Parts: sequence; C-alpha cells; structure tokens
Amino acid sequence: MQEIRAAILILSDKAFAGERADACAPLITQLLQGVATVTHTAILPDEKQKIIDALTGLADRERVDIIITSGGTGLAPRDVTPDATLAVIDKPAPGIAEAMRMHSMRYTDKAMLSRAAAGIRGGTLIINLPGSPKAVRECLDVVLPVIPHAIETLRGAAYECGAADPRSETSTPL
Ligand code: MTE
Repeated sequence: MQEIRAAILILSDKAFAGERADACAPLITQLLQGVATVTHTAILPDEKQKIIDALTGLADRERVDIIITSGGTGLAPRDVTPDATLAVIDKPAPGIAEAMRMHSMRYTDKAMLSRAAAGIRGGTLIINLPGSPKAVRECLDVVLPVIPHAIETLRGAAYECGAADPRSETSTPL
C-alpha cells in the first residue's frame, strides 16, 4: 500500500501561548509509527477560522491523507474544533467518533462530553481527538487499526471489505 501521509493539529490556547508543553503531538507521532508518516505538525489557538484555514490548507494544498486533531472537542466556550471540522468536510464519517466514544466510556463517563467529529474533505480524512494524552491514547487504540483500510477506501483502492476481518469469519459478536 502507498504511504499514508498524516498531519497533526493541536488545538490549545495554552499550548499555543507556550503556557503548557504539548505532549499530544509527540504521542500521536509515536502511535502512528508503522501506520502513517507524519509530514506536518502545528499548534493553533482555539480559533474557529484559524482551524478552518489550517484544515483546508492541509487537505487542499498539502493533500495529506489524514489529519488528526487533538483538543477543543469539549463543552467549554472556546472548544470549537468539531465546529471547524464540520464546516470544512464534504461528508461526515460519524462511525469513527461513535466508536471512539463507545470505547472511551470503558475508561471514563466523561467521554460523553467530547463532541469529536470525523469526516472527509476531498481525499483527506479528518479525525478529532480530545486534548489529553490519556484520551489520545485511548481513542487511537480503537481508530488506528482501521486507518489503512479507511485510506484505501478513500483512495478508491479497496474492494474486499468483508474478507479482511477475522472476526467476521466466525460471526461472533464482540
Ligand atoms: N476520552 C477518553 N478516551 N479519555 C478521556 O480521559 N476525557 C473526556 C472526553 N473524552 C476523555 C475522553 C473529557 S474530561 C472531556 S472534557 C472531553 O473529552 C473533551 O476534551 P477536550 O476538550 O480536551 O477535547
């Protein structure tokens, strides 16, 4: 399979201002090893228009395969990452955020407070993650295994969807 090019966007007023060290971008980079190559990393404040500009630039100009955002998905007044994401996507991919929240409820009831969204713009898949390293790890646990197939289908290169998952051989529910 052709290399998957990934961009990481950290949304945090504090990290942008240098008031807090960002631990999420290095963690996401580490967790993506063997799945995707990180070609872009940026830290932005929680400003909807700035996030929109970054997402559209990465999707339309840089043409990365996937953008993983972290932070700004909650209920706080400055949390606008899902709103910026929904403003730029052509099609939602709600199952990705549903799966993350479902899996995350094993760890904390507060998972229901994340408004994280996912969707595609052109040939780019955008996935929002919450902003703590703990949440990043827990959410990527469930998403990472399906990223190669997601990008293959997005590229129009995957045809045998049913055959690949050994769980579907036995029809045993999870
Ligand atoms: N999801 C997982 N897997 N683990 C977590 O610890 N924290 C929650 C939630 N999702 C959490 C999680 C909390 S406390 C909040 S407020 C929301 O994500 C939003 O986080 P954000 O504002 O950093 O995006």
